[in-house]
Amino acid sequence: MFEIKAKDNMGRVGVLKTKHGDVKTPALMPVIHPRKQEIDVGKYGADIVITNAYLIYKDEDLKKEAIEKGLHELIHFDGPIMTDSGSFQLSVYGDVEITNKEVIEFQELIKTDIGTSLDIPTAPFVDREKAESDLEITLERAREAVAYKKEQNMEMLLNSVVQGSTFLDLRRECARELSKLDADLYPIGAVVPLMESYHYKDLVDVVMNSMAELSDTVPRHLMGAGHPMIFALCVAMGCDLFDSAAYILYAEDDRLLSTRGTYKLENLQEMPCSCEVCTKYTPDDLRAMPKEKRRELIAQHNLHVSFAELRLIRQAIYDGNLMELVEERCRAHPALLEAVRHLGNYSKDLEKYDPRSKKSAFFYTGPESLCRSEVIRHVEKLRQMPKKRDLVILPPSRKPYSKFVSGKLGEFYVYGAQKELDLEDTDFMVLDIPFGLIPLEIDEVYPLSQNDAPKTRDVDAIEFAEDFISEFVEYYDQVLIHKRVVNDLELGLYEKSDFSDEIRYHKDDVKKVKAIADYQFGVGAGDALFSGNINIEKSKKTGKIRHIYDGKVLIVNMRASDSYLILSKEGAKRLHNRMPYPQNRVVVNKDSEPFALDGKSVFCKFVVTCDENIRAKDEVLIVNEEDKLLAYGKALLGACEIEQFQTGQAIKTRKGLKK
Ligand code: GUN
Ligand code: ZN
Repeated sequence: MFEIKAKDNMGRVGVLKTKHGDVKTPALMPVIHPRKQEIDVGKYGADIVITNAYLIYKDEDLKKEAIEKGLHELIHFDGPIMTDSGSFQLSVYGDVEITNKEVIEFQELIKTDIGTSLDIPTAPFVDREKAESDLEITLERAREAVAYKKEQNMEMLLNSVVQGSTFLDLRRECARELSKLDADLYPIGAVVPLMESYHYKDLVDVVMNSMAELSDTVPRHLMGAGHPMIFALCVAMGCDLFDSAAYILYAEDDRLLSTRGTYKLENLQEMPCSCEVCTKYTPDDLRAMPKEKRRELIAQHNLHVSFAELRLIRQAIYDGNLMELVEERCRAHPALLEAVRHLGNYSKDLEKYDPRSKKSAFFYTGPESLCRSEVIRHVEKLRQMPKKRDLVILPPSRKPYSKFVSGKLGEFYVYGAQKELDLEDTDFMVLDIPFGLIPLEIDEVYPLSQNDAPKTRDVDAIEFAEDFISEFVEYYDQVLIHKRVVNDLELGLYEKSDFSDEIRYHKDDVKKVKAIADYQFGVGAGDALFSGNINIEKSKKTGKIRHIYDGKVLIVNMRASDSYLILSKEGAKRLHNRMPYPQNRVVVNKDSEPFALDGKSVFCKFVVTCDENIRAKDEVLIVNEEDKLLAYGKALLGACEIEQFQTGQAIKTRKGLKK
């Protein structure tokens, strides 16, 4: 019922399938009032809406009509409808006149598409005792709802809401317990007070800790989140659905939503966007209108900017630049900027989901960019790479750097004891922002050349570069740092090298492809792949490496767009022979063995286990449980997703090894 089409960080574009049609996610569900609804939200772009089953249940006339004609006719919407259970009323009034079982039964009776159990929305920052006792009830009711749905063979999909207030371990516990149930969607509840009070940093903690324990295969809904300013951030954390009455509540107060914040009509000299309303009317026109008409037009604008933002977010996921959108949006408010900085503490979680290679270049938008998955990932990989005796650090040039390095390199300063140089035993790296040290041999690998940052450094970037140097000088006997790097960073403690004139970089294609293999597949892969009579074929047009052979046997191709090595049959065999299990492996069960051998793609449900370091877009080996090589291909998901998903493709097989 939920299919993921594209991903970026923890954000995904998906399709949610319901009886009343498919919904593209991330999606916004406008809140419909079952009695007082005046605005046709479908006309303004809503594919799915949410309404309140409890309000219908409490009103004799509405209840009767809903039971007779069904919910869709009652609220005049023929797409998918989600219903809430009265939990919100419970949190406001302290009590509701309905039981959990009754509200589940009623939602099925009026033919909702997605119903909700009667969770307890525990406010943020309450006593631990209160949070724990509420949580017990929430979990009990979620279990009861799932069991009741099964027992009665109900058709509707079911929400199980994550609670736990601002206690992060309780959020995790709740999410973990709910994940054991067979609910269909997992909303994250009781976050409205956090958003209303600009506690976005706490929102990040609550959402990330809930997500950590929720299955990746189900849609996740941030309940009551309706301000377009926060959509990008929340999507990057893994939220698929939003709902809100904000579009109409704000309109009621003459306030216009925007991704930059909220505008009060009384302060507007100019209309803030280019929707139909903003192009047809001036602020004075709106102010002069009767209240009802004005409210409808502002609500129309509010829906327009919300849906426009979600389109932009989905496109950013397809393009692979969602984090740039997040960083941009979070400049709308200091509390949001604090939140995106705080999200940097969760980079390791985000990295697990982030595809290895993307269509778009990495753009540095500010210090927050230094915490992105790509940077964290490079630093980790670089630490693992084998190291020579000495290191030469060069200033950045045009990219790819290795193409523009030649001849005498200039003046150098030394860290460590001065020694006679052995260029064969020296690593050459460029120091740049945002990736820190970049070995010249691997500089064409995505995203090490496919990025851009301002040449004028901010203080965080300078500190980042300095930290990099202080760490890496410890790994080498002698570090030679180019004068320009020393000056840029104001590193004052070094003496001049007596050997500056001798420092030259010798390009060596075999070393280069071996280094790329080590970086891509793990240390040792270069020697595993490239032995024998290595023969490197380059593009006549661009001079870039295209194919690598042993004699006449193809080992790998190098993809032009990201310089990743694409295995051939021989390459896969060599990698498999020499790299220890489980590196680069996806292990499939007995049943799927013939399919893999035959070159058919591997579905998640046939995967027994896999290398935890696999990320979407990686080249991988497909083996059986005895580690016999069956096939090789490209991962479509990361390791943690492959292990969880029960449907869909895990690996797009390039070739099976059937004789
Ligand atoms: N609407 C906004 N917050 C919540 C919540 O925590 N639970 C439910 N059921 N509905 C909500
Ligand atoms: Zn507008």
